[in-house]
Amino acid sequence: MIMAPATVDDLESLLGLESAGFDAPERWSRDSWAAELDADQRLVVVSREAGRVGAVACFSVLDETAELLRVVVAPDCRGRGTARRLVGAGKDWAQARGARRMLLEVRPDNEPALAVYRATGFQPIARRKDYYGTGRHAVVMECEI
Ligand SMILES: CC(C)(COP(=O)(O)OP(=O)(O)OC[C@H]1O[C@@H](n2cnc3c(N)ncnc32)[C@H](O)[C@@H]1OP(=O)(O)O)[C@@H](O)C(=O)NCCC(=O)NCCS
Repeated sequence: MIMAPATVDDLESLLGLESAGFDAPERWSRDSWAAELDADQRLVVVSREAGRVGAVACFSVLDETAELLRVVVAPDCRGRGTARRLVGAGKDWAQARGARRMLLEVRPDNEPALAVYRATGFQPIARRKDYYGTGRHAVVMECEI
């Protein structure tokens, strides 16, 4: 498994990961991913295995606070520590840019994601009301870096 910054050539693969990883209303569009690839203070990192993109994660940083915006691993690549390594790469990237903490939002029923975040040092600190629609609150998690 090789981790590397994503390029526009990876857009099609990223859309494939979105389709496999999320229900339609939650998927990021091609435009959303293109904007992330273009944005300042963003890391879009992919893992490549057997000649294809097996996973992606996206991070931002502003002042001392970084955010984990997305992590998705292809179904046949899960359970091998890929998400853990991508989150680690994001923390290293953010730390090098002066970040002291990383935040994220997660659905409280997304057990695999919660497990990854707990395993990588995140703790719940708050909830964000109606983040995923009326009555569907997000858990906000924080990790010191
Ligand atoms: C969540 C997701 C990214 C995990 O990817 P992954 O590569 O399988 O995760 P890892 O193998 O790195 O697992 C890291 C830790 O989380 C735990 N974990 C991962 N998936 C788990 C699951 N389904 N159930 C229980 N624990 C799980 C692992 O046991 C591991 O802990 P350990 O290292 O102490 O054993 C993947 O399931 C996915 O892409 N889901 C769909 C997209 C999504 O919901 N993304 C998150 C919101 S943006």
